Amino acid sequence: MILQKGKKSTVITAYDALFARLIAPYADMILVGDSLAMSFGGHADTLFIGMDEMIYHTKAVGRGAPDAKIIFDMPFGSETDKESALKNAVRVYRDTKAFAVKLEGGEEKAEIIEHLTKNKVAVIGHIGLTPQSVRIEGGYKIKGRNDDEIKKLFADAKAVEEAGALAVVLEGIKAEVAREITAALKIPTIGIGSGIDCDAQVLVWSDMLGFFEEFTPKFVRKYMNGAALAKGAFEKFANDVKSGSFPSEKESY
Ligand code: KIV
Repeated sequence: MILQKGKKSTVITAYDALFARLIAPYADMILVGDSLAMSFGGHADTLFIGMDEMIYHTKAVGRGAPDAKIIFDMPFGSETDKESALKNAVRVYRDTKAFAVKLEGGEEKAEIIEHLTKNKVAVIGHIGLTPQSVRIEGGYKIKGRNDDEIKKLFADAKAVEEAGALAVVLEGIKAEVAREITAALKIPTIGIGSGIDCDAQVLVWSDMLGFFEEFTPKFVRKYMNGAALAKGAFEKFANDVKSGSFPSEKESY
């Protein structure tokens, strides 16, 4: 496994060849996340994306970063039972360069994860705040705030590990709880909004580069103000065209 227990590693999302190429040197793994539905598809949540779109984008990422270890995020409805999960995971392996698939859920998904791993599919779990649960939970809720939630998180983490997952994403979990889960598991944890003690950290590229303006979660560190830079460049182009300064002679054949 590329991610190792106790070794700080990076996972960054990518959805296309252009950015996969830029990201690959700095990411131990690239995640083609269903967050794509929101950041690039303009949807309100991640439930709008399906297998065909995810496969299309994962193929593009594989072309841009042919040596990257790619994680394919199983979209909503693609892994509701053992048979459909395996059928879809086999399709992912046949059609893309994905190394592993990721699926949201703990105890309730353990049987499906086990079925996949027994059939030689590399699986990464995802527990805590699971964005595909947004409608049923009525929002994005931080997890690990009380004893019941903490008990459930430990049960989920153990179930995912015992089912054979190679690693597990811990999303939106109180930092001290994520630290204890990380210490209790043999598999590496990949944190997002879950504090410093996870083995790896994952961020969505359009969040970390400041391109997604609608909402910036507390856990995102913005490494540049992409939206402002892009808008400034587009404005300059529009002004140059309107003023007649573009294209110059040097920019013409
Ligand atoms: O879809 C995604 O980008 C994800 C990460 C937020 C972990 O699942």
